[in-house]
Amino acid sequence: MSEKKKLTTASGRPYVENEDSLSVGRRGPLLLEDYVLHEKMAHFNRERIPERVVHANGSGAFGTFTVTNDITKYTRAKMFSEVGKKTDMLARFSTVGGEKGSADSDRDPRGFALKFYTEEGNWDLVGNNTPVFFIKDPKKFGDFIHTQKRHPFTNMKSQTMRWDYWSLNPESLHQVLILMSDRGTPYGYRHMNGYGSHTFSMINAKDERFYVKFHFKTDQGIKNFTDEEATEMAGKNPDISQQDLIEHIEKGDYPSWTLKIQVMPQEEAKNYKWNPFDLTKVWPHGDYPLIEVGKMELNKNADNYFAQIEQSAFAPAHVVDGISYSPDKMLQGRLLSYPDAHRYRLGANYEQIPVNRCPYQVNNYQRDGFMRVDGNHGRAENYFPNSFDDISIDQDHKLKAPEVKDDEAAWYDRNDPAAGDDDHYTQPGNLYRLMSDQAKTNLVNNTVGSMSQIDGEKKEEITMRQLCHWFRADPELGSRIADGLGVEIDQSMFAKA
Ligand code: HEM
Repeated sequence: MSEKKKLTTASGRPYVENEDSLSVGRRGPLLLEDYVLHEKMAHFNRERIPERVVHANGSGAFGTFTVTNDITKYTRAKMFSEVGKKTDMLARFSTVGGEKGSADSDRDPRGFALKFYTEEGNWDLVGNNTPVFFIKDPKKFGDFIHTQKRHPFTNMKSQTMRWDYWSLNPESLHQVLILMSDRGTPYGYRHMNGYGSHTFSMINAKDERFYVKFHFKTDQGIKNFTDEEATEMAGKNPDISQQDLIEHIEKGDYPSWTLKIQVMPQEEAKNYKWNPFDLTKVWPHGDYPLIEVGKMELNKNADNYFAQIEQSAFAPAHVVDGISYSPDKMLQGRLLSYPDAHRYRLGANYEQIPVNRCPYQVNNYQRDGFMRVDGNHGRAENYFPNSFDDISIDQDHKLKAPEVKDDEAAWYDRNDPAAGDDDHYTQPGNLYRLMSDQAKTNLVNNTVGSMSQIDGEKKEEITMRQLCHWFRADPELGSRIADGLGVEIDQSMFAKA
């Protein structure tokens, strides 16, 4: 018979008194020397780490990415080097504004964060289930997120705060329209698409750069809750997305997504009708058709949620050779923000946590710091260059510097009409006009339901300002929302449309 494991303290001392504290007499006070009691209570008090400042509520799983189509003319990334090549990966899905433990079915964009463990380093694609975003300059992110969280006085979510912000930032309209449609309440995580959203670069073996958008199309088909179903589900089963994901994977019904890309040659970016680096815009598929790349399948649940999902850390800065950034200002801001957030949430050595560690190679001269638990490179030299170790720089990875044409630094207006950056209405209007009658009706009802909760002294001002944006996107949409809100339509709204 195999020997049973003994119960021990954290330092490995076997002990017996696990449930009764050391007291003076049967009914007397406790003695300070019951170290096991201190250790149990103290460790428990430290079980929580700061939750993610956004996207705190999430679910994840491991899987495999398989290349199905040759895209080596666009990228030299090893992960895409041949058809059939497989790469291990991790996905974490999330809502954005809710705290950890909040309802999975809340109306919110969904995070779609991926980590590919490639042989040339980990590639993180940290996207959403929407191809666009609310804002187009990273300086605005903190203000925007404050409006999605709790009001400083009431400590409650506030529709007034949200619509105030959105109405004052019309560039949000495209994303707000998607959020108010039934895509704002997906049925779990398996039934939604994922998008890299930003424009990224691919660089091929000839050092040619292409601008690229990533689309992960769900093979399960799009399925959404209606607003009523989502609200009901929040009460009935706030963990619906977590349950749906782990149960399907556990029973072998593995969810999968097909990766497709849109590719824009670098030259065309200069004159394309939409600013290709504006995160509030899509590239119509008629202009840049989808090209299939491969399949991502999630086939393994995490054994321990905290270790592998809560401690996972994704960063848009983590690209690999053959995949790179673009001048999208939002992306540029995110390059700094995520590793900074991880150093705060998980510590300077967050990339050593097994789920985040590159399984192939990590060789550098970074040393020490809190929670360095990997041996810290032992006796090896901790400076570069040195005459002792065998770490060398591989010149094959030399990067071609990105082209930067403007040489004048300024705080350029993100919505500058002269640069054609002030059209916030054409694309959301086109999207509305493409929707089925039912989808249009649900969008209108969901929007009316949300906007009717605007309250306080600025109610009318905020409502009218936002209505003008809906009108400008599409007069019929504006009229229907105004009707639903019981607002008398001023003919000037049509004039502005
Ligand atoms: C300048 C704009 C943005 C900033 C500064 C920002 C910042 C952050 C921060 C600080 C976190 C928490 C990271 C952590 O503690 O682990 C986060 C999480 C996340 N963000 Fe953003 N974000 C921005 C825009 C976006 C956009 C445009 C997308 C999608 C296209 C996005 C997708 C995500 C996702 C999916 C997560 C959760 C990652 C995970 O599952 O761990 N964010 N963001």
